[in-house]
Amino acid sequence: MNRTFLVILGAFLTIAFSLSGLVLIPNWQFQEHKPVVNPRDGSQYPAPYYGLALQGRDVYVDQGCAYCHTQQVRPKGYGGDIRRNWGNRRTVARDYMYEYPILLGTMRTGPDLANIGARQPARDWHYLHLFNPQITSAGSVMPRYQYLFRTVKAGEMVPAGAIPLPAAFHSEGTHIIPTARGEQLVEYLRAQNRTFPLPEAKQ
Ligand code: HEC
Repeated sequence: MNRTFLVILGAFLTIAFSLSGLVLIPNWQFQEHKPVVNPRDGSQYPAPYYGLALQGRDVYVDQGCAYCHTQQVRPKGYGGDIRRNWGNRRTVARDYMYEYPILLGTMRTGPDLANIGARQPARDWHYLHLFNPQITSAGSVMPRYQYLFRTVKAGEMVPAGAIPLPAAFHSEGTHIIPTARGEQLVEYLRAQNRTFPLPEAKQ
């Protein structure tokens, strides 16, 4: 018996079924996503990145931070993300509506950074940590990003805004000043705040 027709029909149905399940239906579901308005001050969440934070996103990408860090909080019952204080709720598709490409990441050599701006808003903490992670986090295996800074040696004139390094790590009186890319990266990190309540993210 000639089954050519059945084979072609089967192949067609397989492709049509997976295309609609993986592409068409998700596309239709997500096109409904709009920002929500914060009733307290009328601001919108999520909001697109702008200024230094927007430029810092490129630094985050080209420094490969996403190889060791994720930006996605799993729901309760799917791991300890919320218990570890990586977020107060799971992250959902709407959190990423302005992100392209989305930097979800796959490896967690370091902590999740979806809410690092809420958890650690202090600029100087980030500068010290990026310059030498050991300063803020004893035993850290994160690489140093010293080329994102200019170092001012002891005895040189210290410009305003320079950050002193603790004497236990670098010779006393040494200061660091972030380069433009260092500043951009830290503003991007400080903009990572996905704590705003969304109706579809119950926990
Ligand atoms: C080789 C893996 C690795 C890479 C690459 C890496 N990190 Fe990390 N990161 C870690 C580890 C491990 C920790 C936890 C220890 C610590 O705080 O230093 C960490 C911690 C952090 C923290 C503190 C998180 C917290 O919850 O306290 C921030 C912020 C951070 N990294 C940002 C970055 C940025 C920005 C980059 C890219 C410039 C980067 N990391 C690249 C491994 C990495």
